[in-house]
Amino acid sequence: MLKRETIWWGALIVGLLGVVGYGIYQVFSQEDQPSLPEFHFLTDSGELISAQDLRGRISVVGFFFSCCQASCPKICQAMQELQRQLRNTDARLVLISVDPETDRPERLREVAKSLGANPRRWWFLTTTDSDSERLFTWIEEAFGPATRPKRLSWYYAAPRGWDIAHSNRLFLLDRRGRLRDSELVVRLEGEGSPWFEVDEEAVARLAQKVRRLDSVGGIPVRWLPTLNVGLNATSLVLLLAGFVAIKMRRVFWHRSLMLAAATVSALFLLSYLYYHWQVGHTRYPGSGWDRMVYLVVLMSHVVLAAALAILVPLVLWFALLQRWEVHRRLARLTWPIWIYVCASGIAVYVMLYVLNPQLLPF
Ligand code: HEM
Repeated sequence: MLKRETIWWGALIVGLLGVVGYGIYQVFSQEDQPSLPEFHFLTDSGELISAQDLRGRISVVGFFFSCCQASCPKICQAMQELQRQLRNTDARLVLISVDPETDRPERLREVAKSLGANPRRWWFLTTTDSDSERLFTWIEEAFGPATRPKRLSWYYAAPRGWDIAHSNRLFLLDRRGRLRDSELVVRLEGEGSPWFEVDEEAVARLAQKVRRLDSVGGIPVRWLPTLNVGLNATSLVLLLAGFVAIKMRRVFWHRSLMLAAATVSALFLLSYLYYHWQVGHTRYPGSGWDRMVYLVVLMSHVVLAAALAILVPLVLWFALLQRWEVHRRLARLTWPIWIYVCASGIAVYVMLYVLNPQLLPF
């Protein structure tokens, strides 16, 4: 006959494994949308970036050209509104010029200034070589055939400012550069009208979608690395306290502290997987010996953490069965590995984000 206490433990262990297993299943079963094709741009500050640099932060991307007389002033107005509404997120606003011959970085800088664009949040992009056809093909590949801009002057003599037709949608990209949604934020004032207006509701909907993508359970994704290091540090303290407790033969405290450590580590694992699913891999910026140290610590951390996914449930299982001899032998191997994994997790955070604060997108 199983003791009541044993049944409770069993339920807790199975529950923990279930939650972690479900989280891993969810993360890996998500269909991966393709991310942006490669392309090189110049920013308004003259910096050379690649389309891959749009990753790491949520982006709202639109198209415009500086001398446009039609919908572009309204697109810029919608972006200004988004800059205001999204000030509590790390979302980046991106306007790509579809008139790269005219819109060189100096010109884009003037536009940025006149719109009050915050350079940390809002990029104006142009091509490196003024080749608009290559850009139009990239836009089509990245955002769908309907978004390919058209030069109207090739069909009929449209006046300057009305000569490039482009999408009035703003596109939402997630942190891995995958296209997630879009909203038509500028529309004609009325049927037959040549004038445009901002669709305030579409702008608000887009801002809402960004906020939803930016947080999990109310916690902004950009805070997850900090939450994760906190969870690691908590596990470390619980593990040390649990060890001291068993050395003092306080079995109740040992059990409680070790179960708490397992719960906190399971939460860490879920949050860690979710963060990397959202953001992808964070590249260490250095290239010298410090990068070597970082990679060795990271690799050992990941390999031993994977071993813990098997060892910890086993150690708990033998405690549940009250097979103390096996529990102790296995636990003497598991405990130091666990301590190392928590400590190296903190070290990885320090090397990445404390020594390179620019990697934290706050
Ligand atoms: C994964 C979580 C756990 C870890 C890492 C762990 C770790 C350890 C370690 C390292 C020892 C040996 C201490 C020594 O060197 O003398 C030990 C012993 C012990 N643990 Fe755990 N423990 C865990 C969970 C539990 C749980 C849930 C219980 C439930 C009561 C428990 C009960 C015991 C007992 C009774 C001993 C003493 C065994 C003996 O007398 O030989 N442990 N544990």
